[in-house]
Amino acid sequence: MNIENLIKEMTLDEKIGQCVQLPGNYFDKNGELTGPLEGYELTDDQIFMCGSTLGISGSAEIRKAQSFYLEKSRLKIPLLFMADVVHGYETMFPIPLAIACSFDPMQARKVAEYSAIESYSNGLHVTFSPMVDIVKDARWGRVMESNGEDTKLGVDFAKAYVEGYQGTSLDQKNTIASCVKHFVGYGAAEAGREYNTVDMSERVLRQEYLQPFQSAIDAGCKLLMTSFNTVNSVPASVNKWLLTQLLRDEMGFEGLIISDWTSIKECIAHGVCSDLADAGVQAFDAGCDIEMSSPCYYEGVKKAIEEGVISIEALDRAVLKVLSLKQELGLFENPYRGCDEPNKVLSDEHKQAALEVAQQSIVLLKNEDSILPIDKSKSIAIVGPNCSELDLNGSWTWKGHLDNNITLQQALQDYNVVFCGNVYTYRDIEHAEIVIYAGGEKSNMVGEAASRASITLPFNQEHEIEELANRNKQIVFVNYSGRPIDLSNIINKTSAIVQAWFLGTMTNQAVASVLSGDVNPSGKLAMSFPASGGQCPIYYNHLRTGRPYQKLNEPYKSRYMDIDNEPLFPFGHGLNYSNIQISQIEHGEKISVDATLKISINLENSSNVTGTEVVQVYINDKVATVARPVKELVAYQKVEIAANNVEHIDFEICLDDIKYVGLDNKQCIESGDLTLMIGLDSAHVYSANINVIV
Ligand code: GLC
Repeated sequence: MNIENLIKEMTLDEKIGQCVQLPGNYFDKNGELTGPLEGYELTDDQIFMCGSTLGISGSAEIRKAQSFYLEKSRLKIPLLFMADVVHGYETMFPIPLAIACSFDPMQARKVAEYSAIESYSNGLHVTFSPMVDIVKDARWGRVMESNGEDTKLGVDFAKAYVEGYQGTSLDQKNTIASCVKHFVGYGAAEAGREYNTVDMSERVLRQEYLQPFQSAIDAGCKLLMTSFNTVNSVPASVNKWLLTQLLRDEMGFEGLIISDWTSIKECIAHGVCSDLADAGVQAFDAGCDIEMSSPCYYEGVKKAIEEGVISIEALDRAVLKVLSLKQELGLFENPYRGCDEPNKVLSDEHKQAALEVAQQSIVLLKNEDSILPIDKSKSIAIVGPNCSELDLNGSWTWKGHLDNNITLQQALQDYNVVFCGNVYTYRDIEHAEIVIYAGGEKSNMVGEAASRASITLPFNQEHEIEELANRNKQIVFVNYSGRPIDLSNIINKTSAIVQAWFLGTMTNQAVASVLSGDVNPSGKLAMSFPASGGQCPIYYNHLRTGRPYQKLNEPYKSRYMDIDNEPLFPFGHGLNYSNIQISQIEHGEKISVDATLKISINLENSSNVTGTEVVQVYINDKVATVARPVKELVAYQKVEIAANNVEHIDFEICLDDIKYVGLDNKQCIESGDLTLMIGLDSAHVYSANINVIV
């Protein structure tokens, strides 16, 4: 198809239509709704000229909707089908925050590859994933779909997801286009309150929040979604500095920019646009190619073109991007791309992959007296609000039907279970040697529009744990949650705590494999666990302040009167069933233009259990032109060490790894002293001084 010639045939209305995305229920009454839907009075022309839709799934449904649409399309330009395949299509994988705890980007790539296989054979063309927002506030419901608080992890995981979805080329089978989101800063919503104001310096934006997007762009993501929030007090979807000067000109993004659901129309509520037409003109002029689920482009762009406010060349450029993506996907030749492929959802291979990723994502937070793993001879009682819960997929579950999942009780059926239930008296469980308390949140308590002011355990769990502990019961707390939870009131009443997140279709098979010791847990926290919601936002790479708090009860220091500053569990924390220590560290003394810092490390496993550790390398720039974090992750490696064995690993750190964004908003580094820190989490580290020579 020669799309330049096709554009010449298109009317102005048809061109504007390609820049509009309508919800799937305009073409399929069962289309998934992922936002508020106002009933706009659209004409049939406007409906059948739109260039894309979202929320329709399944090869039969997409085949039906596409043929229905093409019958009405004058130029037979196929519709683009997009959807939120965030952590799986029908085989559900763990929520992305859990996958980030694997500290292994290959797990993310695997999730994206299997998600693409299932999405492709169900006719989808684009996924609104990865979400690469940096998040520091557990009160925000969407931390569950992020890669956590650290920029280095965010960069590595963004690349892995994009490459997993898109493969080497979209003309290959089992690939879908990736739409990275939400540009930018959405995760910094004040007070963790959904859709709330975001305000940060451009320097911090560049230092922490832009880098995962740059990584996705460098990996070739085809689309990027704007965020609901303001950036420098201008909503992202109408922010010309953000979308044109920064994203296009500086970051080099050449793909399609799509607004988030009605985020263009919402600029009226933000108070920067006067009406639908004004919002449409401002957004298009800012550089947003496609409007999702609101009629501003239909309301305002045509008149703006006729009056010369928007150039026809600008419109043709946007239309060319839309049609180029359709061409790259081969839709002009086959509008039913993938629909004839065998549907592999929930195949044994896919479920096995989901199980393995889930097992890598579980974080063992506490294991007093090695109560875990549980010997099958032990009698156990399973209680708590999630003891028989099937909905452990987490939010953004595309088509993950709950009957594909199993309960914890079913997963532990070959154990000596003396009781299972959420309603019980002590008599029911008094003969159990161990109580497994399946607690945490419900799946619908996280995700979009699910901020919580309190991040303690809901449903009276703390009281129940207290009651059980008062009877000297050994409690293994399994925390199913989509966010870090304030566990401070139960930490001293439980013998073990397993962070089980929401792990998708194979959640409880994975949890059972860890509880039994069939799998030695290896996850590490990608987001700090607060000791109180009052600490939020709390994150490991914070600034020192002018009055850093060093020891208990120092007056006039940056601290609280009622609790400590430290999180309950720090970034990078995670235990295992082995006994692995860093037994030797050797490293250079300097980094310079022509000398990298080489680090050699021995890891010794003095136990009889093969285990895996994540060695983390942090730096602190002691004196710089701007205040620098007390530590920043610059490198990490996940290593398996056989029982009673030693493994050797090496790192090489160069100047580019330690550059930072200076006052002029450009990358820089100066000569001086650097503290090198190495550990198995962010809180317990070996330190040494390194000299930087530039
Ligand atoms: C939602 C979300 C976004 C999602 C989009 C389409 O409001 O903010 O992440 O991709 O709408 O469903």
